[in-house]
Amino acid sequence: MSPIKTVLLIHGPNLNLLGTREPEVYGTQTLADHVKVAEVAVAQHGASLKSLQSNSESQIVDAIHSASGTIDAIIINPGAFTHYSWAIHDALKSFAGPVVEVHLSNPAAREPFRHTSVIASVAIGTIAGFGGQGYELAAHALFHHGG
Ligand code: DQA
Repeated sequence: MSPIKTVLLIHGPNLNLLGTREPEVYGTQTLADHVKVAEVAVAQHGASLKSLQSNSESQIVDAIHSASGTIDAIIINPGAFTHYSWAIHDALKSFAGPVVEVHLSNPAAREPFRHTSVIASVAIGTIAGFGGQGYELAAHALFHHGG
């Protein structure tokens, strides 16, 4: 039996605009659609999902701190914070459970500033470029590799 019972799904800045934000890059599904996909996948492993979207780096750092002791694993799409937030990197580093990084697009195939992730080194793995399916893949990966 997997020890992961609670998963926190974190979305960073501008991801509240999914559905209308650059649909040619991010698709037409909304944030709520993606959360539902993750929720269903996590439930298949007998776990529950909590979800947070914030445009504020400090709120994300605080949420990661609060996750310690109450949340077993984190799935995070940090948005643009991916590329420069050492504060989120450090917060995730202090979180004891497994972390999976997700991107709807494939940042490696986009502008050079997106080629660096300061989050990847504190994640057990990264799923990028598969649109909303990435959340389903991330959830299953957690239970196969993060236990
Ligand atoms: C993103 C990729 C980031 O480079 C970008 O800043 C985002 C979304 C993705 O899901 O593809 O906001 O994380």
